[in-house]
Amino acid sequence: MTFEPYITHATIEARIQELGRDIVRDCAGTSPLFVCVLNGAFPFASDLFRACEELDAEIAFIRLQSYSGTSSTGEVKQVLGLTDKIEGRTVIVVEDIVDTGTTIENLVNHLQEGHPADIKIATLLFKPEALVKPVNPDYVGFSIPKKFIIGFGLDINKKGRNLKDIYVLKED
Ligand code: IMP
Ligand code: MG
Repeated sequence: MTFEPYITHATIEARIQELGRDIVRDCAGTSPLFVCVLNGAFPFASDLFRACEELDAEIAFIRLQSYSGTSSTGEVKQVLGLTDKIEGRTVIVVEDIVDTGTTIENLVNHLQEGHPADIKIATLLFKPEALVKPVNPDYVGFSIPKKFIIGFGLDINKKGRNLKDIYVLKED
């Protein structure tokens, strides 16, 4: 398996600053709760949260798992739940990637039960061609084709999350 460079760290960083500005503009006057979906979203959430320092924001973490190797299992397991009260609040779900949309749809449905005022989805990467659920992310870092990528939080069998850049699996 070979991976080749795809999105540089500088490009990722610049894009996250832009997303931060969009969120600050859209969420002005609210006290949003960022919900970082572990494990993959942690580098993105870290940078995005700090790109929103003008907001009176909080962050919480939730852990889900739906992948095994390079293909979706279609099954979403919730490993670590959310303890924060979200009633009446703006919740910003922070994901590394929306692929089939199964994970995010499941999570949004679960969060709705807590009666938030609003749920927004911020994802670093989005594969529109892979989408099978009616999911429409509010903030997208990069829309990419249906290819397998690693780096900047994204893994292959738990490896590659610490890469600063994003790499794509070479298909031959
Ligand atoms: P979905 O439920 O099919 O949308 O998949 C979402 C989850 O699958 C993400 O949170 C990732 O953990 C994982 N995933 C999807 N595509 C990739 C990829 O290209 N590389 C690494 N992980 C991926
Ligand atoms: Mg993930």
